Amino acid sequence: MMTKKMEQAINDQMQKEFYSSYLYLSMSAYCYENNLKGFGHWMKLQSQEETSHGMKFYEYMIARGNRVLLEPIEQPPHAFKSLTEVIQKSLEHEKKVTALLHRLYELTMKEKDYASQGILQWYINEQVEEEATVNEILQKLKLISDKSSAILYLDKEMGKRAP
Ligand SMILES: [Fe+2]
Ligand SMILES: [Fe+2]
Repeated sequence: MMTKKMEQAINDQMQKEFYSSYLYLSMSAYCYENNLKGFGHWMKLQSQEETSHGMKFYEYMIARGNRVLLEPIEQPPHAFKSLTEVIQKSLEHEKKVTALLHRLYELTMKEKDYASQGILQWYINEQVEEEATVNEILQKLKLISDKSSAILYLDKEMGKRAP
């Protein structure tokens, strides 16, 4: 069992993962609405991945004999100016999540919770990959600016993502 302080902090982080899922689902809807099926598909899978991140904490809490407390999930943004803004917002969001995970890791050190350090290391590594992926998409979008043929090509590429 982990300390009450750790329990609260992990429940908070679990909420962030479920919020991430909600955010990406909202972004996915925006993409579909704007006829960007590939991006819509990519964002939908990203949303599912975030749900699995939330569930990983859920399972972990149960395994440790701690209390899962599901916190309210706020409404994610739904009006975006452009596709580039969507991707920019994803990157900003991922950076925020990374910072929160680092803070959580610091808490495990203070609380001497070695088991939680193991699982958090996994999340931290996952963030490196996610930030890199989103950044790569953003750089591509900047490169092609608003050349519609290039956007259509990229949209097709995004549609190839497998779960
Ligand atoms: Fe995540
Ligand atoms: Fe993420």
